[in-house]
Amino acid sequence: MKTGKIETSAAPGTNETVRNIIIFDTTLRDGEQAPGCSMNPREKLEVARRLEKLGVDVIEAGFPASSPGDLESVKAIAEIVKDSTVAGLCRSLEKDIDAGREALKKAVCPRIHIFLATSPVHMKWKLKMTEDQVLEQTAAAVRYAKKFCSDIEFSAEDAFRSDPGFVCAVFGAAIKAGALTVNFPDTVGYAMPGEFGERIRYVRDHTPGMEKARLSVHCHNDLGLAVANSLAAIVSGADQAECTLNGIGERAGNASLEEIVMSLRLRKESLKADTRIDATQIYGASRLVSQVTGVKVQPNKAIVGENAFVHEAGIHQHGVMANRETYEIMTPESVGISKNQMILGKHSGRHAFEDRLKLLGFSVDGETMEKIFAEFKDLADKKKTVSDRDIEALVMGAAAAPETWKLDHWAVNTGSALGASGTIRLQHKDGAYRKLVSLGDGPIDSIYKAINQIIGREPELELYEIGAITGGSASQGETMVKIVWDDRRYNGRGVSTDVIESSIKAYLAAVNAMEYELARQTGSNE
Ligand code: KIV
Ligand code: ZN
Repeated sequence: MKTGKIETSAAPGTNETVRNIIIFDTTLRDGEQAPGCSMNPREKLEVARRLEKLGVDVIEAGFPASSPGDLESVKAIAEIVKDSTVAGLCRSLEKDIDAGREALKKAVCPRIHIFLATSPVHMKWKLKMTEDQVLEQTAAAVRYAKKFCSDIEFSAEDAFRSDPGFVCAVFGAAIKAGALTVNFPDTVGYAMPGEFGERIRYVRDHTPGMEKARLSVHCHNDLGLAVANSLAAIVSGADQAECTLNGIGERAGNASLEEIVMSLRLRKESLKADTRIDATQIYGASRLVSQVTGVKVQPNKAIVGENAFVHEAGIHQHGVMANRETYEIMTPESVGISKNQMILGKHSGRHAFEDRLKLLGFSVDGETMEKIFAEFKDLADKKKTVSDRDIEALVMGAAAAPETWKLDHWAVNTGSALGASGTIRLQHKDGAYRKLVSLGDGPIDSIYKAINQIIGREPELELYEIGAITGGSASQGETMVKIVWDDRRYNGRGVSTDVIESSIKAYLAAVNAMEYELARQTGSNE
């Protein structure tokens, strides 16, 4: 098992040992639980596959007791992932641990991750428990989980705002009961790097039995310091860093995987630590998460932002042209951004298409390949060249929820003096067609109203965003939509050379995700 022991190796060109830091990715749990970052089960599987390819040591796949849907997703991920440990989060309750055990039963390397808060504010107001009760419940929960799973992680929620001596006692109890990893979260992102590093050193030196377990950190980004705090902790001896792709997560997010990994990779001699991550997979994985969540990466985001390798100032351009090292500390290629690629177009064959998919990090089954290759040919007929972004859009379209409602055709009438009217004909999965005409405040509003009348629901439209995939008037329009129904959010993406059509496709994708979930809740998807 990859995460079985802490390995060390010598850094190239030095005699110093470089520790291997375990990368625990929680994009599918802490990331996914953030507002607006929800993913459907197929999307979660696609992300899990990509995390495995990236080489993350531990994939936290979800919180099985939080909903039947989450349990099913963790189960499905546990079945397909072979090269990473798969973790499920559980409160320190037997019923949660039972759900975790059930979800992880097919995993090659399962990990049950139990948490309980240790800070005065959480114990008093949330848990209504004393320190003694927290100590007792920690030990009992770890002992219970240990009966089913050897790899147990225990997290002291809000550890940074907890009494350090108490955290050491709780960690000691967890280790004594069998935890192999103890995790120290800065749940509210309050720590400063210097003090966080010191605290980690204190915990490492004062936790009874610490030599038998790994010490992990989990930092939130409320003050923009999650990565800095994680690195300070690593310098102080932390063995595992918990993080998410693109730094998505509750509130201001979690420590970003790509920033931790590239900091370690580039500065391993100074930090005396590195990871096993295949950095060339970073960009593709980041794109995938952004596509499935609909959460765009800020342009100036380190490593994966659109501008991360763009030089605008003349003096910088001049320097980079003479030698890239003048203004670049890493190459775009080292994180998987490839600039010199063959252009695909209508004469490109299946081989070239499949090769490009592989290069972009997608592994697609035979049936899906047939579907997206046909769509690629259609698109290549409409556009001269098909970009990597276009191809990503095709693959992501195939990973969307099954179509309860399929677009048959549409038309809109609009103008500056008149309101708009939209006509739409949809086909239900049972084969029947429904057609409706509706008036609205513009073409999109009229069409969305017509769709709502056909499906018999009026979800709230929380987000509607439209952009172009690449430049030029032949570019495809890309629409992102988030709808809310029954307090749940559903994302939809639509891509078309016609912006109204891309808007319709996005709305229908979100509607289909909603219908799929509602049918799943009543058991009618089987
Ligand atoms: O932020 C946090 O404290 C967590 C724990 C559940 C690990 O996400
Ligand atoms: Zn967290």
